[in-house]
Formats: sequence, structure tokens, C-alpha cells
Amino acid sequence: MRAHPAGPRHGDVVANPGPPPRRAQSGVALDPAVWPTTAERDGSGALVIGGCDLRDLAAEFGTPLFVLDEEDFRSRAAQFRIAYADPSGTANVYYAAKAFLATAVARWAVEEGLGIDVASGGELAVALAGGCDGARLLQHGNNKSRAEIAAALDAGVARIVVDSLPEVDLVAAEASARGLRADVLVRVTVGVEAHTHEFIATAHEDQKFGLSLASGAAEEAVRKVVDDPALRFRGLHSHIGSQIFDASGFEVAAARVISLAGRLVRAGIGVEELDLGGGMGIAYVPDDDPIPVSEMADALRRIVADACAREGIGVPRLLFEPGRAIVGPAGITVYEVGTIKPVELDHGQVRTYVSVDGGMSDNVRTALYDADYTVVLANRVSDAESMLCRVVGKHCESGDVVVRDAWLPADLAPGDLLALAATGAYCRSMASQYNYLPRPAVVGVRGGSTRVVLRRETPRDLLALDPGAEPE
Ligand SMILES: Cc1ncc(COP(=O)(O)O)c(C=O)c1O
Repeated sequence: MRAHPAGPRHGDVVANPGPPPRRAQSGVALDPAVWPTTAERDGSGALVIGGCDLRDLAAEFGTPLFVLDEEDFRSRAAQFRIAYADPSGTANVYYAAKAFLATAVARWAVEEGLGIDVASGGELAVALAGGCDGARLLQHGNNKSRAEIAAALDAGVARIVVDSLPEVDLVAAEASARGLRADVLVRVTVGVEAHTHEFIATAHEDQKFGLSLASGAAEEAVRKVVDDPALRFRGLHSHIGSQIFDASGFEVAAARVISLAGRLVRAGIGVEELDLGGGMGIAYVPDDDPIPVSEMADALRRIVADACAREGIGVPRLLFEPGRAIVGPAGITVYEVGTIKPVELDHGQVRTYVSVDGGMSDNVRTALYDADYTVVLANRVSDAESMLCRVVGKHCESGDVVVRDAWLPADLAPGDLLALAATGAYCRSMASQYNYLPRPAVVGVRGGSTRVVLRRETPRDLLALDPGAEPE
């Protein structure tokens, strides 16, 4: 995954858009690896998700619009619960709220038997408002405030994942002020970083999260936790990155963290739990090929069992925190096409800039990570030839790109609807109000019914924080 500063990108005539499909009709087929499980085309060619025609959703709720397939979310959550199930039957999969959270989503996660991993006081508040019991919550954060720790303890969270030495004292102080003993995992940085298909392993850990294994800080933190009567040491945590397609990065990370577990056990410190974090990848485009959930789960269990055998220790209870792999494929974005502008490039090629009514404020991943997406015409099908397009947003930023290279029908016209697949994770949750665009609604669909998961913001919402605004 490459990061680049948002801004003009010169010279990249066409990275590698692949050959044009014979005609845009080829975009009619919906690759099940990329689209929500209930996605289909109806008789007229319009895209239907959860039994709801996207044209009707756009008319009722406006665009841009996030559509969340409840059945898809629930089935992926259940798949994780089953694949990663622990014989003890306790919730060992925590849905990572940062991918996307609203009260409805918290309910779906809990009803499917998952816990929730929260990384801020705001996420904690939404999870609780969604009816998630504190005992099913796990708290993260590299800079938790005293108030966030206090709120987590008051909610009775199952685990606090401590991220620094000072935080050990902070959690202990807040727990002891309440006469509690807080259950704690220690986040270990193991020098493995995974990003999209690849991982790198180094001896150093140059990042803000966790406690370094190599420097001894992680072991020091564990001993500090063990020595503090207000804390109960439960185990170790490691999260290596995102969009991971196979188990090789986890294998290196698990070996390293389990070597620490071995040292601790030999020193008489029990390590009951090992949390290997999230990061399981999804298909954004048909070429993306993450291994199936159950294969990854089997591989991770085997890796941990082998590493524990090498260390001569028992296998700890395993915890996981997938976010993207549960909500990512369940969500899509619907945009309305506005300005269409052909631009002549060097070598006589033409690129057609297709502007939509959202952009980097509802999906910053393309600008931030050079992410790739699948986009199709959603309100009809077309027999027209394909044209090479760049789908762009409406923000005052030339890096405001939604899909860098896409083949869309040449008869695309203002007012057409485009659907972008796999936008359930890290799109609405990372959304901004840049250029004072109201953030889009999120609508849940299931069996032909809709529910507003988050309503669309209005100009009134935009002015609500500005004391200089005239009251209506
Ligand atoms: C500690 C931790 N756990 C879980 C996740 C969820 O990752 P993903 O959504 O890629 O599964 C993240 C993502 O950044 C994370 O930092």
C-alpha cells in the first residue's frame, strides 16, 4: 500500500487499467468476491442489494449514500465466530469498531456472538448505546485519556490493552480508585508490519503503537502489571497491519510474541490469552485474493500451536479483532454522476474525468492509500463501448480521486448512478466534512426493507458548532 500526498499526480498516463472490456456490459456481472452477497441486477439492469433497488434508495435517501447489507454483515460475523471459535465458547472475536460503528451495527455484532474492540471513548459510547455489554468490550488506544480509561472501567470492559508504561500506572490508578482489579493485555510491537499482500519483518519497531519486544519494554510492562494489585495480567496482544491476504506475516509475529510468552511462563508468569489483532484482507477488485476465513483461522491456530510447542508452553486462548473483513464487503457507496470531462493526455490518449457528488470526504482511502475499487453503472445497463475513466470527487483538491482507472460505458451521462463496492470499512468511519459537505447517510437493507443506520447530515448540522451562525 503506497501513501502519497494528496495533490496532482503527473505523468501517470494510465498505471495499468488492463484491457478494455469488450463492452461496458461486462461490468454487469457482479463478482461475488467484491460485491455484497445479496447484490444482483434486476430485470431492468438496476443494481439491487438486500432486495432494495439502488435507484429507489438514492431517490429516498439522496446521494452519496452508503448502503449496508445486514445479511452480508451478519453472515461474515458468524463465519468469524465459527471459524475462530474457542472450545470454551467465550467470545474470542472482537469486531473492530474503527472499521465502522453505529448502534445498529453494534447490535448485529453482539447478536452474532462477537465482542467489540473500541479505540476511543466515542466508540465505547456507541457500542454501549448499541446494547453491547461492557463484558464483551475490549479497549485499545495508544493515548487513552484518563477519562476514557475511567469510562471503560465503569462500563466493566473485559480487557484493557495497555500500550505504554505510563498507561500501566494510569489504568492501575483508575482501577484502584474504584476498588477494582482491571484485566489487562499488554500490546507488544514485534517488528512485523503487514500491508496489502506483503509484510516486512525487522528487528526494530519504529511506530507509535505498543511496547517494544526487542528493547525489553514489553516484558517490563508485563512485570509492572503483574506486580500491581489493581491489575490482573491476562496475556499479550499483537496487531501487525491491514489487508493481510495470507498467514505468513502472522507466523513471524506469533513466533516472536510467543517467544516472550515462553520467557514469561518459565519465569512463573501465566499467559492465558494471546490476541493476534485484526487485519484480515478483503477483495476490493476481482484480482484481490485473500484466503478464506476458515483457512486463515486454521492456519493461525496451527501456527500458534507449533510456536507454543517449540516454547514448551500450553496454547493460550486466542483472541482476534477483525474489522474490515466483516463490514468492508457488506457496504457499498452510491454516487450520482455530475460533470463528465474528456481530457487529452500525452500520446493522444483520452481520459474521461467523471465527477461524482462525494469524494474524499466520504472515502479518503484512494487519496490516502492509493486504494483501488470496483465501480459499476448502477441504475441501468448499457451496450455502449467502454471508456477509460477516472472517477473523481467534488472537493477542491486534485488528489480527490475515487477510482483512479475504471472502464465505464461511453454513454455515461449526468444523473446516472455509480456504485462502488466494498466501502463498508474505513469510509464512513473516516469521513470528514471537508468543503462543508454533509456526511452521507448509511442505510441498512435486508429482505427488501430499509433502516437508517446513520442519517445524512444537513446544513443545520454543519452550522450547529458555529456560535456565529444565525439561529433558524
Ligand atoms: C489494534 C487493532 N485491532 C484491529 C484492527 C482492525 O483491523 P482490520 O479492520 O484491518 O481487521 C486494527 C486496525 O487498525 C487495529 O489497529
